Amino acid sequence: MNSTNQSLKPLTTEINDNGHLVIGGCDLTELADKYGTPLYVLDEKTLRTICKEYKEAFSKYEKINFLYASKAMMNLSVAKIVASEGFGFDCVSDGELFTVKSAGVDMSKVLLNGNNKSVDELNMAIDYGVGHISVDNFFELSLLNELAAAKNKTVDVLLRITPGIECHTHEYIQTGHLDSKFGFDMTQIDEAISLICEQYKNLNLKGLHAHIGSQIFETNVYNDEIDILVKELARINEKYSLNLSELNIGGGIGVKYTEQDNPPSVFEFADVIVDSINKSVEKYGIEYPTIYIEPGRSIISTACVTLYTVGSSKQVPNATKYVAVNGGMADNPRPSLYQAEYSVQVANKADWTASEKVTVAGRYCESGDILVKDVKLPQVEEGDILCVFNTGAYNYSMSSNYNRVLKPAMVLVKNSQSAIIVKRETLEDLISHDVLTE
Ligand code: LLP
Repeated sequence: MNSTNQSLKPLTTEINDNGHLVIGGCDLTELADKYGTPLYVLDEKTLRTICKEYKEAFSKYEKINFLYASKAMMNLSVAKIVASEGFGFDCVSDGELFTVKSAGVDMSKVLLNGNNKSVDELNMAIDYGVGHISVDNFFELSLLNELAAAKNKTVDVLLRITPGIECHTHEYIQTGHLDSKFGFDMTQIDEAISLICEQYKNLNLKGLHAHIGSQIFETNVYNDEIDILVKELARINEKYSLNLSELNIGGGIGVKYTEQDNPPSVFEFADVIVDSINKSVEKYGIEYPTIYIEPGRSIISTACVTLYTVGSSKQVPNATKYVAVNGGMADNPRPSLYQAEYSVQVANKADWTASEKVTVAGRYCESGDILVKDVKLPQVEEGDILCVFNTGAYNYSMSSNYNRVLKPAMVLVKNSQSAIIVKRETLEDLISHDVLTE
């Protein structure tokens, strides 16, 4: 069965009688007119559909919990929608914790994670009553125990470990390989457990946490990960007479940015994950663990597109034709950071045939600020609206004010209605944190 992460475009994408692209029943050219560009457009139906697909895909495993990885995209409305689908949240900062709390999320369904959480962030997590803190290193074990003791509280923790799995994704988004800044090395687990059992009385160890990478297409790496985690859980329980019963297997499931991308469906991922759990539970003789899965990209990516307005064009003699838009690396740093590829269409000429090969360039003062290289588009002119697909994950959340440019607005579309969910920044916002010295 197919799933939403295999779609290049939001599920509600259509072309109307004017030849304009439509998402969530809203004409994108009209949205650009009404709200200005660059504009993030988030389709609620696509977002809810993938959440439902995850739940259906894993319905054969009773003890499954979903935590949306907030780092992919977080704001109040996203938190509210995703929470209403029954998901909890993986947060990595005070900002993410504060946003989900402000959206009314049940904090017992939140996990705080990260390799260098501050004292304030750990205290905030304890005060908010988050369900779990994933402890990343020895320094944090001792610090968290001290902070919890000072509040006379016990905190449920997972040990973040590095299972030593290399997956075929960009080097910068691999996290589970051996020489990683994240988590305890497998050889350090015993020392961590001994410390918790003997000294850190305010930490209540529930299980293990790992994350092996992002934009993963191969399902077999989850096989390996689960085998390692279940084996380790069994070994620890036996050796320390514990009853650890929770495994957080991270996120990572890939999405389709271009026609060439072929990510497996969440149903295939779920089959591999559940089969692996069944096999390893039998192999290592433990009870079925409670599983947490933390998808970010595959939840939000497909649901969002970015609209830009075309400005200048430049034909380099005997070389590239550049079409420049009014956004780029500050609203989507992924092409310049990871050589990420995207698909693009002219929203107001969606029924025109592609006739020329162009490179869509951003407006920022860097040669590397290219959004889409060598793409065939209809004849593009100043004022045309370009729609870049699959920009939900790690675009808005990694956006910046580079070149002192304002961050775009975000609108939510549903049933032919649109509503602002993130306001466009203003020039006043931009200087509101500046302090002029004498
Ligand atoms: N859990 C943990 C512990 C993580 O570190 C991550 C992502 C996730 C879950 C969610 O992974 P996802 O399902 O989104 O693949 N900025 C990069 C991606 C960095 C991912 C970092 N960790 C990019 O734009 O490709």
